[in-house]
Amino acid sequence: MANDVIIALDFPTREETLTFLDRFPAGEKPFVKIGMELYYAGGPDIVREMKARGHKIFLDLKLHDIPNTVKRAMSVLSRLDVDMVNLHAAGASEMMRAALEGLTRPDGTRPLLIAVTQLTSTDAAALKNELLIETPMAETVLSYAQNAARCGLDGVVCSPLEAALVKERCGSGFLTVTPGIRFAGGDAGDQKRIMSPERAGGSGCDYIVMGRPITQAPDPVEAYRRAVREFLG
Ligand code: C5P
Repeated sequence: MANDVIIALDFPTREETLTFLDRFPAGEKPFVKIGMELYYAGGPDIVREMKARGHKIFLDLKLHDIPNTVKRAMSVLSRLDVDMVNLHAAGASEMMRAALEGLTRPDGTRPLLIAVTQLTSTDAAALKNELLIETPMAETVLSYAQNAARCGLDGVVCSPLEAALVKERCGSGFLTVTPGIRFAGGDAGDQKRIMSPERAGGSGCDYIVMGRPITQAPDPVEAYRRAVREFLG
């Protein structure tokens, strides 16, 4: 399993992104996550530029639409040659299978396809009162993960606290990509259910996603190296 630390490039412009990445020595190319903020600012060009600079890329656009639309959008994204993309499992099985089809390139290769189960910002009250889902949160997350696994997806985005349960339910090869990571003794910010890189390493997390603890650190390169050291043990 390719365990790795993924840096969330949550920057509003290409310039700020490059200023951050230029702090790393030429030979050190972290796996990076491009989310909605940077993608909407920089478009496909920013993805191509990161790829040309030698980074692996998780394109975090969380697709959720009718199956045909998602299939066609995934087909376009597959041409960007990213390493990982995602969608909302709430789009249901037909959409997830269509996404896989669209993502698969003519030569049979494709980026990893990861499902978002329930957003970590959705709490139990919103689940029950707004989404009208009576099933408890943990069971909902696990059931969505199982649907994704049955459809042939590669894994889920989940809280590090859920990673071991996801593995238990969906199999050890089913990937867990986990945000909500904070250094021991660090500032949690708006993340509520957090874990340190070190504990995540022993808790069934295949990839940890870290943004602010690295991007806002006084020495981001050292913070990244610390995360890798602690996560990989
Ligand atoms: O700065 P921080 O480490 O909290 O960044 C976490 C990253 O992971 C952000 O880009 C955020 O959008 C993303 N994410 C998350 N929780 C989810 C899904 C994605 O924090 N459930």
